[in-house]
Amino acid sequence: YSEEELYRPNFHFTPKKAWMNDPNGMFYYNGYYHLYFQYHPESSVWGPMHWGHATSTDMITWNEQPIAIYPDELGTIFSGSAVVDIGNTSGFGKVSKAAPIVAIYTSSKKLEGNDNWKQTQSIAYSHDEGKTFTKYDNNPVIDNSNIKDFRDPKVMWDEERNKWVMVLAAGDKIMFYDSKDLKNWNLLSDFGQGIGGHGGVWECPDLFKLPVLGTEESKWVLFVSINPGGPNGGSATQYFIGDFDGTKFTMDKEFETALNKEHNYWIDFGRDNYAGVSWSNATRKDGSKLILGWMSNWDYAQVVPTETWRSAMTIARKVQLQKNDNGYRLLINPVEELTNYRSTKYKKENIVVKNDTKIIDSKTIDLASAEIQFNISNLKEEGFTFNLTNKQGDTLSFGYNHTDKNFFIDRRKSGKRDFSEKFANHVSIAKRTSISADLKGTIILDKTSIEIFFDNGETVMTEIFFPNAPFNKLSIKPNHQEFVLDNIEANKLNFN
Ligand code: FRU
Repeated sequence: YSEEELYRPNFHFTPKKAWMNDPNGMFYYNGYYHLYFQYHPESSVWGPMHWGHATSTDMITWNEQPIAIYPDELGTIFSGSAVVDIGNTSGFGKVSKAAPIVAIYTSSKKLEGNDNWKQTQSIAYSHDEGKTFTKYDNNPVIDNSNIKDFRDPKVMWDEERNKWVMVLAAGDKIMFYDSKDLKNWNLLSDFGQGIGGHGGVWECPDLFKLPVLGTEESKWVLFVSINPGGPNGGSATQYFIGDFDGTKFTMDKEFETALNKEHNYWIDFGRDNYAGVSWSNATRKDGSKLILGWMSNWDYAQVVPTETWRSAMTIARKVQLQKNDNGYRLLINPVEELTNYRSTKYKKENIVVKNDTKIIDSKTIDLASAEIQFNISNLKEEGFTFNLTNKQGDTLSFGYNHTDKNFFIDRRKSGKRDFSEKFANHVSIAKRTSISADLKGTIILDKTSIEIFFDNGETVMTEIFFPNAPFNKLSIKPNHQEFVLDNIEANKLNFN
């Protein structure tokens, strides 16, 4: 491998060259999932933003497309969303042609003589299913006189009230707007001051409705990304559960109480999942939503050891809502489409774990492209630690510490880390919320990332790493007492 390609993931989306951050404008139409992204084609660090573009039939294998939206006189193109305007409410459609795709994004213009930006909201439409966009003549559609951070419009179709609803981040709150035609927007309400995490600026919101599993009830979910102020440092995405009456988002009372007791509502507790939002027009039959995030963190994204390209996206994930004794909680898991890539399988039951016990090496499964499921039915006091290692002496550890009920990922010895003081300065932890004696996990490994879905997706952790050679051995050890690993199943994921 060249240094560059040594770190390029096998199956997570990366741009062929140059800088990428947030996912933008995701929608599904006519058999294709579209992913746009914050893109600076001239450099491997952040700069004047464009919308890059990629398409996929299954959200797993992506084809990069030409840049879809370029900066203009209103500014560079910051994050935003896109909708399929099936009813041609915007009038941008052509009679008897495919539905227009309408992108709603932030125009961000540097002000002369100071470090501030003027951020306004603009729209553009596409007649070729998202390949190319024409900017609307009357941009911006939402002007801004004095709000410093005013960006990342996410628009959804509100079925109950037959209108478009936009959530927009405005520093320390989310503003709600509605529209009949995507061109004229009315301010409805705002939410968030003094609520939830406020360690940094609020960005990239999302709003959608989810059925509560096993009930007739539905609840509204509000995502808010925040940077810094994440549970393990830097960027992360929090969520709120409540109701939306067409005008106002109100937190569920029980949820609010739990939130005030302990702010434990993050879609991912690892350090590398930011700015994630849902696909438009892609609600699954069971009502679940599909999301994906930027697999990096503003704390170090611009200095990670890849020079010609930077950043990957997370694996696409399905979002569901459950209610149990602890109240409402999202369940987030990899999309089922990933299982279509399973090839070689390894399976073992009743492994007695005494000391560091090898489970898999590269002779059984290539750990640089794998999906692993484990189950421990009788969890002992102190928990366990998985170690991913290579011959170069690098180790990535992760597992569960039963004493303090924390899941963890430790990348302090995982390879290159001196590019940033913040990259591997501590072990990332996530409090376990499930009280089940049965602990299950799904682990997705690519060359330079790990995504762990504990307890059916109740707690998720995603982190990146840069080993000196791909990890090729997985072992497990007890934190103290011996225990039985009931079963482990590993699948090599094949993308050829
Ligand atoms: C989030 C963010 C957004 C903004 C974009 C700019 O990572 O800061 O708020 O629109 O990145 O690239």
